[in-house]
Amino acid sequence: MKVTVAGTGYVGLVTGVCLAHIGHEVTCLDVVEEKIEMLKNGKSPIYEPDLEDLMLKNKDRLNFTTNYKKAYKDADVIFIGVGTPERIDGTANLDYVNEVARQISESIDKDTVVVIKSTVPIGTNDRIEEYLNGNIKNGIKVRVASNPEFLAEGTAVKDTLYASRIVVGTEDKIAEKVLKELYLPLTKKPYNVPLLSMDRRSAEMVKYASNDFLALKISYINEIANFCESVGANIKNVTLGMGYDPRIGNKFLNSGIGYGGSCFPKDTKALHWLSKSLDCELKTVKACIEVNKDQKLRLFHKLKNSLYLKDLEVAILGVTFKPNTDDLRDAPSIDNVELLLEYGANVTVYDPIGLDNFKKRFKDRVNYASSINEAIKDKEAVMIMTEWKEIKEYDLNNYVKYMNKANIFDGRNCYDLDDFKNIDAYYVSIGRKDVGSLK
Ligand code: UDX
Repeated sequence: MKVTVAGTGYVGLVTGVCLAHIGHEVTCLDVVEEKIEMLKNGKSPIYEPDLEDLMLKNKDRLNFTTNYKKAYKDADVIFIGVGTPERIDGTANLDYVNEVARQISESIDKDTVVVIKSTVPIGTNDRIEEYLNGNIKNGIKVRVASNPEFLAEGTAVKDTLYASRIVVGTEDKIAEKVLKELYLPLTKKPYNVPLLSMDRRSAEMVKYASNDFLALKISYINEIANFCESVGANIKNVTLGMGYDPRIGNKFLNSGIGYGGSCFPKDTKALHWLSKSLDCELKTVKACIEVNKDQKLRLFHKLKNSLYLKDLEVAILGVTFKPNTDDLRDAPSIDNVELLLEYGANVTVYDPIGLDNFKKRFKDRVNYASSINEAIKDKEAVMIMTEWKEIKEYDLNNYVKYMNKANIFDGRNCYDLDDFKNIDAYYVSIGRKDVGSLK
């Protein structure tokens, strides 16, 4: 099939490349020239494992362009995978989606199925379909279907090809048939992905309900972790015991300094605002947002309660919102570093791949190190913000060896408490007892 994908961010680009991989003729479209130039040269503008390999493998079926008229003109299926960022009041900003719809209405010459992959408030698919059919050339028809994505950064290619499920939301039989045909290779071996057909509004809702449930799970376990500190329990043991119950499961039970990224923060707020506007406030989602806001600064407060921050030499290990991505959106590191600077601390940061993005924001307000050893050298405290493998596997003796004072504040529970038995460090984590004494 001839497919055009609008947007070359995580959702759009990964979708486009994976659709080319299963045999479709794909055009990826973006308004940013530099991104398209990079892509034409085989380089991905986002850091995502396996993506460039797949781009190379399928280069004969992949086109990259900024020319929307050509890209939309005779596509069988158009995916909308542009961003729906959070507005200052927490609602979803649909400007990019609306602009794509306008460009589609200007350009298409034949019946087309438009698939909305961007996360959009419930009812958006209805509205876009109405808009398109009211603004295209006479005699042609657009069918709009919802097809939410469930990919996580760092595993996006795997999450798309070996997806847990494909949700297709449309009441239109032709659109359903087209999407079933498009995804046919993924529903068969070796992928065997279940395809679920449903009405459009439910499909839109599946996305929010899933993301908000996962965010809630994290906020719940973070609150339980904080409570463990009050009662002298160890959150790692508690989640171990909980996770064996198949109704609970052992995933997404890692406590720490809260969730970040491009989805959970924005999707919880968007759903909360939508629910409020419909006079049916989702109180659990509201609580989840509040818990996460506080949790992000929990480690900072532990540090502040232990050490005088003015002129304190602090190293930050990990700045991305999670490992295996260079994405800083809503990363807890940002608020923590801002606060440290406000209190007059001297901050040195290290991250295996997130430093370029961090530099764009913090410029020369912090120091940058190119290794963990360099970052922690002569420091009086270290704060761990992301659980990179390299940080988890770091030799703990080095903290004592290189730091001026080995005060370790771990926001991701990277180490076991027993690991510090023979190490003369002060180790503070989340949901567990502190080990050692303040240096
Ligand atoms: C998420 C969803 O997982 C994905 O299905 C959806 O399509 C987009 O949003 P992503 O934001 O890439 O994906 O990352 P994810 O791995 O879900 O982590 C989100 C945040 O939650 C990170 O900040 C992570 O550190 C945090 N998290 C995750 C925890 O604090 N504890 C956990 O147990 C799991």
